[in-house]
Amino acid sequence: MRIGILTSGGDCPGLNAVIRGAVLKGTEINGQEFVGFRDGWRGVVNGDIIPLERSDVRGIGKQGGTILGTSRTNPFEGNGGPERIQETLDRLGIDAIMAIGGEGTLAAAKRLTDAGLKIVGVPKTVDNDLDATDYTFGFDTAVEIATEAMDRLRTTGDSHSRCMVAEVMGRHVGWIALHSGMAAGAHAILIPEQKTSLEQIAEWVQSAANRGRAPLVVVAEGFKPDHEDDPHSERGLDAFGRPRLGGIGERLAPMIEDLTGIETRATTLGHIQRGGVPTAYDRVLATRLGMAASDIVQSGSWGQMVALRGTDIVTVGFEEALGKLKTVPQHRYDEAAMLFG
Ligand code: F6P
Repeated sequence: MRIGILTSGGDCPGLNAVIRGAVLKGTEINGQEFVGFRDGWRGVVNGDIIPLERSDVRGIGKQGGTILGTSRTNPFEGNGGPERIQETLDRLGIDAIMAIGGEGTLAAAKRLTDAGLKIVGVPKTVDNDLDATDYTFGFDTAVEIATEAMDRLRTTGDSHSRCMVAEVMGRHVGWIALHSGMAAGAHAILIPEQKTSLEQIAEWVQSAANRGRAPLVVVAEGFKPDHEDDPHSERGLDAFGRPRLGGIGERLAPMIEDLTGIETRATTLGHIQRGGVPTAYDRVLATRLGMAASDIVQSGSWGQMVALRGTDIVTVGFEEALGKLKTVPQHRYDEAAMLFG
């Protein structure tokens, strides 16, 4: 069996560990051969492949990014579509595709599988918002990076008696904000799932300042203050037609300063959260998912993806993966909110 691997959508620490896990298990145990598609679905549509043998994945488990490149190409646009892609796969002698990606990638993979293509999936998102898996690799790394940054913001905030606002990723869900904010001892955590008034935020900030603390406010990029319907976006749309987020922290800072009189500064962590080496946890999770993905190709489980349930790697259908977002449940927010202010 000859398998083409692709990484698609936003990158994420751990992608290379998945590729390595799949290639090592596939070549050593399952008798498979691999090639890599360059830049996600673009490589599939254009038949742009690179060799992926054991020697090509040597040492990559600890590398950030993806050795295959990624893009947000839609495989149904341009020269894409199931028939043309199948012709390309036949021409290249590729029997199956292993698609490593988030919601958009897996949705495309499902449509192609429904049309008869042989595809398995590996879920990927730093936001940790796929309901079908308990954790996605990359999330732990993003939380570590964000926590370290917040620890640093706190010391400079303390020196100047300032309020510091840290903006983290999280388009639809606030998992990165919740975990990094709790780890850093934030005085307020603002997430897309919870509408919060400016007055409430100012109250938490003031209360921390009254105790002699330099307030730390953590905000997810997708947060909407209670008087707004859409998340803050000022930079147009991405290739999937989604608003490019980022900037809510910079917007909130002067509002907090106006309401409290406390000098306030904002920092947007942005893509720093997605760069660099994965944590040990993410390397292990990603390696296990890659190995399991090789197994489900071997068993011909097309339209399925690997996922983490508890500490076990399981298999779920694409439709289950796409059905629901994993939002921060009310009790997890309430638990964190007990420590605000
Ligand atoms: O989906 C993951 C994510 O990191 C979101 O939190 C963010 O909105 C988006 O990707 C940004 O992606 P990019 O700027 O790479 O298109």
